[in-house]
Amino acid sequence: MAMEYSEEVMDHFMNPRNVGEIEDADAIGEVGNAKCGDIMRMYLKIENGIIKDVKFKTFGCGSAIATSSKATEMIKGKNIKDAARLTNQAVVESLNGLPKVKIHCSVLAEQAVKAALLDYCKKNNLDVKKTLGEDFNIKNEHECESCE
Ligand code: FES
Repeated sequence: MAMEYSEEVMDHFMNPRNVGEIEDADAIGEVGNAKCGDIMRMYLKIENGIIKDVKFKTFGCGSAIATSSKATEMIKGKNIKDAARLTNQAVVESLNGLPKVKIHCSVLAEQAVKAALLDYCKKNNLDVKKTLGEDFNIKNEHECESCE
């Protein structure tokens, strides 16, 4: 049975925003899903605590591309504390949903943003909780149901 994707998902899959890399990035986050082998890398340019630029590269499925594209739009221009609160549910909602078996792909997008923010703290010797919020955490890797 064919899966149903929203127009918004198809748009971000066909015309992904902010694809590429930032050569002098202030932070890079790389995450992967061990089961399906998909990899995502997120580059951030940060000035005075604001995400000035963001680019991503993904070696992954269409849903991984669409969700990371959407995630970059959602965090660009935000301060890092707000960006650290990005959830995969929020990304999925703003894409008007994803098939259930593809939800784990959106987790990869959330993890990549958070891994990059963590990298920023490490590189600048910043206290993670103070910089990104007391409740900052990176979700555990989700099982890739569709890749078994
Ligand atoms: Fe999409 Fe694994 S991240 S299939």
